[in-house]
Amino acid sequence: MTQEAVLQLEAVTKRYGDTEVVTSSSLAIGKGEVFTLLGPSGCGKTTTLRMVAGLEAPSGGRIIYEGKVMADPARGVFVPPHKRGMGMVFQSYAIWPHMTVFENIAYPLRLRGVAGDELRGRVEKVLDLVGMTALMDRPAPMLSGGQQQRVSLCRALVYEPDLLLLDEPFSNLDAKLRVQMRIEVGLLQRRLGFSVLFVTHDQIEALTLSDRIAVMSAGRIEQVGTPQEIYDHPASPFVRDFLGQTVLIRGTLAEGAEAGIPGVVVAGGAGEALCVVRAGNNALNGTTTGSAVSLSIRPEDVVLKRADQAAENSVLGLVESLVFVGDRIELQVTLQNGDAVLLNAPRSGGWAAGQTIRLECPVGRTFLWPA
Ligand SMILES: Nc1ncnc2c1ncn2[C@@H]1O[C@H](COP(=O)(O)OP(=O)(O)OP(=O)(O)O)[C@@H](O)[C@H]1O
Ligand SMILES: [Mg+2]
Repeated sequence: MTQEAVLQLEAVTKRYGDTEVVTSSSLAIGKGEVFTLLGPSGCGKTTTLRMVAGLEAPSGGRIIYEGKVMADPARGVFVPPHKRGMGMVFQSYAIWPHMTVFENIAYPLRLRGVAGDELRGRVEKVLDLVGMTALMDRPAPMLSGGQQQRVSLCRALVYEPDLLLLDEPFSNLDAKLRVQMRIEVGLLQRRLGFSVLFVTHDQIEALTLSDRIAVMSAGRIEQVGTPQEIYDHPASPFVRDFLGQTVLIRGTLAEGAEAGIPGVVVAGGAGEALCVVRAGNNALNGTTTGSAVSLSIRPEDVVLKRADQAAENSVLGLVESLVFVGDRIELQVTLQNGDAVLLNAPRSGGWAAGQTIRLECPVGRTFLWPA
């Protein structure tokens, strides 16, 4: 990252008793960047965000915000949340039911001693940003979920923080509203230029909203990169399988002689070699020929052909069944070696259950992994 960092985590660790729930996590978020922590339930996303906000103290490491140390347990440094000046929106939007929309949003400003015309002007400005000026005097409970979510966003943005912390802020919304809020937050962020630390377990949300993503698993950051880097070049089987669908073909490591490209030998039920599928990308380290390996390819990169059509780097499969999923057909296919894979095809593909098909795997799109 060449930009100036707004937030840095240096080997941050959190322990509850004997259990380490965040392990030596390091990352740097640039000014104006949307940075996402993505991972399965319980991997430590919320805990990391709460440590950044100052709602939890780290057990080790350092948190630095705009060049100032916010937490450094080794030196006894801990800056409380209200002195950090970050905006926060949590999953349960927690707006105050006994207050109007206006008062909910005004609250953080009142806490900071803002009053009178300035207060009114700033609340109105932020309400205008999300198109809710007309609802200013409405009691908070008389709002839809999406409107409450917007109020909660306004409350976090009203004092113009440089960093906005979002913990699954859209999870209580229905699918349509989710997409709408995602677009709105993206637009606001680009207009106002604040940085965002976003937490989600939803891969689509992460891929569409983020400049960079950190994929977390069991308290550790597995990989950091742009959405495309992570999707196209996952650094571990965990990242590969967490983000997107994967077609996995198991076999043994082929001789790498052919064009120097290694591949997987696909074998039949009796162990007889049927074909070799080559891989252009290789996560193997010193694996010897004949060892068990797998080859992965994203389903959308597989080119489907009839069995009698010639194709480079291909494997045969039997279509077991077709599932109609609206905009496309899902094909459940059993490969020559018995592996079950799931592929997508256009509705007009003309494939049928019981048919043998050829799966062409373009070499640049295939990866080899340890078994
Ligand atoms: N106060 C606490 N005391 C003990 N363990 C805790 C505490 N808070 C969280 N944990 C544990 O820390 C781990 C990480 O929790 P965290 O809430 O950060 O997960 P998460 O990634 O946000 O998950 P989710 O997607 O379900 O929100 C979990 O195993 C959780 O049970
Ligand atoms: Mg959480």
